[in-house]
Amino acid sequence: MKPLFVLPALLCSLALFDLSANAALSEKSFGKTPQGKKVTLYTLSNANGMSVGIMNYGATVVNLIVPDRSGKLGDVALGFDRVTPYFTQTAYLGATAGRYANRIANGQFHLDGKAYQLPKNNAPNTLHGGFLGFDKQMWTAKTAGAEANEITFSRVSPDGEEGYPGKLDASVTFTLTKKNELQISYLATTDKPTIINLTNHTYFNLAGAGNGSILEHLLTLKADAFTPVNATLIPTGEIKDVAGTAWDFRSATPIGLHLKEAGGKPIGFDHNYVLNKGLFSDRSLAAIVEEPKSGRVMKVYTDQPGIQFYSGNFLDGTLTGKGGKVYHQYDGFCLETQHYPDSPNEKAFPSTVLLPGQTYQTTTTYAFSVK
Ligand code: GLA
Repeated sequence: MKPLFVLPALLCSLALFDLSANAALSEKSFGKTPQGKKVTLYTLSNANGMSVGIMNYGATVVNLIVPDRSGKLGDVALGFDRVTPYFTQTAYLGATAGRYANRIANGQFHLDGKAYQLPKNNAPNTLHGGFLGFDKQMWTAKTAGAEANEITFSRVSPDGEEGYPGKLDASVTFTLTKKNELQISYLATTDKPTIINLTNHTYFNLAGAGNGSILEHLLTLKADAFTPVNATLIPTGEIKDVAGTAWDFRSATPIGLHLKEAGGKPIGFDHNYVLNKGLFSDRSLAAIVEEPKSGRVMKVYTDQPGIQFYSGNFLDGTLTGKGGKVYHQYDGFCLETQHYPDSPNEKAFPSTVLLPGQTYQTTTTYAFSVK
């Protein structure tokens, strides 16, 4: 080959090399389950210094390292240093929630004329799939090598697990892009009619996990309506306009500004928002969160009809997280993309039924930037 042609070829191969060198996947031991199964923490990272650590117990996000305005990296996800506290926590820090994320009233629903009773792990209701939901299960990790920018966790949930009908084949793929986006994609199929609602339960604090409350974070929700709830956080069935209420986040508003007006026990936001877009449209912008001091911004895109905005009301200082930092009330918020809570009992809500032959498929993207 003439030298003239060698140079472009060389540059081209360097560029290719560079592309793959952008992404990396590493793994390390994160402890053992009480049954002696090895838990592994997988870390995806990109060339900007952003990384996300996810473990195979609960397909759980353990850390999320994101640059601030000055390029300084910080961990914006609440979590623990090792797996053991995850066995007993009921806050669902970072977890994949399923089979049915959020609440089902009295743990009961009917499908094809048959009544099902689920365990009431959040009496009188079922929350996030029961006592042994997807957050308390081991998943099988599949990686594409050390230069991969994604990892897939899968598991087969047996027919009748936690009371749900049908053998469910489920997988969750986490992808970290070069543009500082964490994309989470869910896939599931069943061999009997069933219900499904999967989400991720990461608590974010854009000032850094354990660095105080999220009450001054500015939140925008692309939702003109929400689903009010009863005293046990079950939707009343009403779709209520947010205008003139504490739930109005149509323009950027500090989370703490109207928090007390939202009431509840404990006080705070723990509500499903009805996203403005069409129900089964493509992924669109659902939420924007800005943290004024660090300049970190997070945008949430989803194809789901709803999003649970939860202001960390039940955090009460009893969980000690990474680096010995104690998590107090309002120290993290969740934006759980989802179908509306208790949909199996609300005929007017979009259906959460999954039939044999159908594929449940949904994607949510958490995109990070600075301002
Ligand atoms: C969900 C619920 C909250 C709370 C947390 C876990 O987000 O909506 O009410 O139960 O999980 O503490």
